Amino acid sequence: MAGEMAPDEDAATLAEARAAAKTCRRCTLWRDATQTVFGEGPQDAEVVFVGEQPGDQEDIAGKPFVGPAGKLFDAILEEAGIERDKTYVTNAVKHFKFEPRGKRRIHSKPNAGEVRACRWWLDKELGFIRPKLAVALGATATLALAGKALPVTRMRGQTLAREDGLKVFLTVHPSFILRIREEADKQAERARFLADMRAVRKLMG
Ligand code: URA
Repeated sequence: MAGEMAPDEDAATLAEARAAAKTCRRCTLWRDATQTVFGEGPQDAEVVFVGEQPGDQEDIAGKPFVGPAGKLFDAILEEAGIERDKTYVTNAVKHFKFEPRGKRRIHSKPNAGEVRACRWWLDKELGFIRPKLAVALGATATLALAGKALPVTRMRGQTLAREDGLKVFLTVHPSFILRIREEADKQAERARFLADMRAVRKLMG
């Protein structure tokens, strides 16, 4: 209603935004998730990495990229000479979306409405951090950062300039590498992702 403020609308700092996001009801994903998984890293980070959404382990830990995709991501960042602790790592969508299957929770891709709803938080993070560069890890992050769907596998390695001046580097999601069964193909994709991270390192200056 006009004149009424949602509790999250007066977040004046990144820490306040993080606290407000804990009770986010901007879409329905909060209902089944354990908790909001907000971004992590220093407010003066030069680069912000954006994934899709927390996975099973992130949902439980309350931290982004701590599961299998996160471990691969960490290893490749280290090889590329990027210190994760000096970057800010977040997701386009901040609640885990899944389908229960027996005792397991199977990742389910967030839809465009959920991505749009959660852009509120991503915009807050980017607004407080004001990074030199944002890195879109995969299609969902690209949608959130570019505001439209783009063919990531064709455009990977490219840097877009948004109207607000933010540079957005496009690449695939590390879980794409984990899903490849054939070892030679997996290693080839790992090498391509490492090359992308080295390019990010150069853009960071
Ligand atoms: N995949 C993501 O996109 N984000 C995470 O935090 C973990 C896995």
